[in-house]
Parts: sequence; structure tokens; C-alpha cells
Amino acid sequence: MQPDPSTPSSYAPKTYAVILAAGSGERMGFSTPKQFLKLAGRTVIEHTLAVFQGHPGIHEIFIVVSAKDRLYLEELLLKNPVPKVTKILNGGSTRKDSSWAGINAVPEKDAYVLMHDAVRPFVSRRIISETITALGRHPAVDVAVPAVDTIVAVDKEEFIRDIPDRAALRRGQTPQGFRLDVIRKAHELSMSDPDCKVTDDCKLILRYELGDIFVVRGEEKNIKVTYPEDLFLADKIFQVNSSALENGPPLKRIAGKVVVVFGASKGIGKAVMEMGREYDGRMHGFSASTGCDVSDAAAVERALASVLEAEGHIDAVVNTAGVLRSGRLVDRDPADIEREIAVNYLGSINVVRAALPHLEATRGALALFTSSSFTRGRGLYTVYSSSKAAIVNLVQGVAEEAAPQGVRINAINPERTATPMRFENFGHEPPESLLTAQEVAEATIKTLFAGFSGTVVDVRRKSKALGG
Ligand code: CTP
Ligand code: MG
Repeated sequence: MQPDPSTPSSYAPKTYAVILAAGSGERMGFSTPKQFLKLAGRTVIEHTLAVFQGHPGIHEIFIVVSAKDRLYLEELLLKNPVPKVTKILNGGSTRKDSSWAGINAVPEKDAYVLMHDAVRPFVSRRIISETITALGRHPAVDVAVPAVDTIVAVDKEEFIRDIPDRAALRRGQTPQGFRLDVIRKAHELSMSDPDCKVTDDCKLILRYELGDIFVVRGEEKNIKVTYPEDLFLADKIFQVNSSALENGPPLKRIAGKVVVVFGASKGIGKAVMEMGREYDGRMHGFSASTGCDVSDAAAVERALASVLEAEGHIDAVVNTAGVLRSGRLVDRDPADIEREIAVNYLGSINVVRAALPHLEATRGALALFTSSSFTRGRGLYTVYSSSKAAIVNLVQGVAEEAAPQGVRINAINPERTATPMRFENFGHEPPESLLTAQEVAEATIKTLFAGFSGTVVDVRRKSKALGG
């Protein structure tokens, strides 16, 4: 049954997502295919699968993979199940062969299929929704963004033969959506067409004139991880994505959740304690002033053991303890430098090591603190800024190690915040230029109970986040 193409249909046939993951990633140049590289604590394909799994319009997911990666993929899915995945299919040597494997495996006669590159983990819910909706009106749908560079067409000798008008040019992304009968026919026609060199599914529709192809607006962030540089960009997009948390749903009650805060006596740690209590969390705070210095591993272990004893479990651990000292590196007192590293860096390592066994029992989460200086060292604050860079690296590595046990860890990156530490070092600053400790506390608690890991969560002032 085909929906009436002239009106949007309330009837949508069963919708399949076919995730193409049978490539070898030659341009990336690693021995592991790029869909299995890790980003923010999970493989690229797991991020992609999570988007389709979470979209209510997708009924089943097929994954197309090369025979040699099949076992690895099956193991991934055993560890982190994706319930909508119903078939794992062997791909072919070209993308077209792989997409045919997916199309051919759909049992129904009428269905929608969305073909998507496994290596586009940032596809949005909106893109998927609009692709499905557009299939109610059109037999084929592509996703594309405006071309930003001028595109030149060259001949075999590398001379320009044409410069098409950029206004009409788009760069194709995925998913590409099709009514099953149409894309099936396109592939069947190409099999008895020896001249067909076409590799793109939409181009097959064009070649055999099987109907119009509507273009849904893509997004710049829906990148295809292709070259090593894209991994840097992808990391950054994860970061920006999670800072969207500020504009996300409001903080929910955390009734019954046991949260431990180190550095709890002042500043951000104190604000986390207060806000956690306000939202019904069972909060336990420790600080150097009450005898628990994070640079002392045994003290951290004792603190956590006391909470376990009192509560029976621990759901989340936050470490806000930090010191900030300034001065030219050559002028500073060595003992003072060691102290700064011991609190800022080793302290976080102590907290992570002591907390992980407890959090494995609850599939819980950790939050550490970094600073905007992690991306670039700051003169006069070299020890502080390099220790904060170390925290980000630590979080990324621990996220990988702890993922199999279901434990998440993220780094909170507040911009300048009104805290006693800031005041001691920088004196009075206009309050409107600073984040409040409460804003940072809110982002921290949201992060603890959100689903992601291995991420740097930027916390910005609301006015600035909105471009003010
Ligand atoms: N793909 C596939 N089967 C193939 C080739 C590609 O399923 N025979 C998939 C890739 O796994 C990827 C998507 O199609 O998810 C887009 O392809 P591309 O970016 O070209 O990936 P690779 O072919 O793996 O990379 P390269 O071209 O650099 O080798
Ligand atoms: Mg390729």
C-alpha cells in the first residue's frame, strides 16, 4: 500500500534504518575501521546506533558490516545492547553492494528504508523525522547542506571545465530515505545495466527516472568521519552537543540517589551539595577542612567507605577540589608546585580510583572539573592550566576503561565562576561577567544523570550561550 503522494499521510509503513558499516576507512589510515574508533567513550557506530534506537519513527535497524568485523560488532552489541537491531548483514566491496544487502533483507513489500553511514554519529532527530515525513510525499529523499566552497568541475588533465552556480549546489549527507519498492527496482535495474558506474542510491533513482528526490535540510555538524582531522572535530562537536544541556530539560528530582562531593565546603562543591539536597538527593560532602584531602588516597577511600556503610550504595561522585596558584614557573616554590599538582591532578586520580568499584555496582557516574585553560596553556598559571588539561585526558581515558562496567565520567568546564578561589586570585570582577556557582552545580548534577560519557561539558553564562 502506497500513501497518497499528494497529501501528508498519517499512515507510515514500517521504517527500517540500514546502517552501512562495511567500509575499511582507507582515508583514515588506521588498521581499525573508523566506525569502530572510540569517541567520547564509545565507538563511532554505537553513537550512531543510539540516535536511531532513540527515534520513535524507526522500527528496526539492520547493520551491514564486513565479514571480518562481524564478530567484533556482535561483541559490542552484547556489551551494549541496541534492541532495535534485528539483523547483521554482510556487506560488499562497494557501498552500493552494501546498501543492496540492506535493502534486500527487508521482508515486507512496502516499507521505508533509511540508508545511513555508520560514520555520521551526529545525525539529529530532526533530520530523521523530516526524512520519514518527506517519504509520505516523495519516493526518495536525500539530506544535504549548501556548498560553502566554490565547486569546480575538472577534466582528466585537471583543467577546469565548469564552475556551476554555487547557489544550486548542495553537499550530500545521509540518511537517504526511500520507499522500498522504488529503491529495490533501482538496484535491480542497475544489475542488468553494464554501463552503470553509479555508487550513490539517489543517483540510481535519477538514472532510471524512478521519481522525484526531495532534499531535506542537513546540518553542518552531521559530518562524515573520513580523515584523522575529523576525529578532532568530532570530539569538539560532542563537547558543543553536551553544552546544549543548558537549554535542555530542567533538572529532575534525584530522590534516593547517593551523591558524594569532594571539595564540598565552599564554591562549586558547596553549591552542588545544596542543589542536590534541594532536589532530594542523599548528599555527602567531604573537604580538606573537615579532614579529607583528595591528595591523600587513603582518606578518599575512607570517606567513600563511610558513605557506603551509611547508605548501602553510591550513585555518583563529584570532585571539585582544586587549588589555583600563580607565578612564573621558574620563580615558584617547588613544594607549592607539588601541592598544586597533588590536589588538582593526583587528587582526581585518587577519587576516580577509589570511586570506580562503588560505581560499578550502581552503573553510576563521576564528574571531575577542568577549566577553559585546558585547551591552551596560560602564562603565570602553567601548573593549573596543564593540570586541567590532564583532567580532560584522564576523563577520556577512564571513560573508555569504565564503559564496559556501565560507569560514566565527564569533565565539567565552567567559564569564569564567582567562587572564593576566583575572588582570592582575581579580586572583584563585575558579577554579570561571572557564572554563579549554582549554574555550575545545576550543569554538574544534570551531567551526572545524563547518558553520555568521556565528554567535556562547557558551562557558559545563559546570556552568552544565547549569543548575548
Ligand atoms: N561502506 C559500506 N560498504 C562499503 C564501503 C563503505 O558499508 N563497501 C560504508 C562505510 O562503512 C561508511 C559509509 O559507507 O559508513 C560511507 O563510506 P566512506 O566514508 O567512504 O567509508 P569507507 O569506505 O570506510 O572509507 P574510505 O572510502 O576512506 O575507505
Ligand atoms: Mg569509501
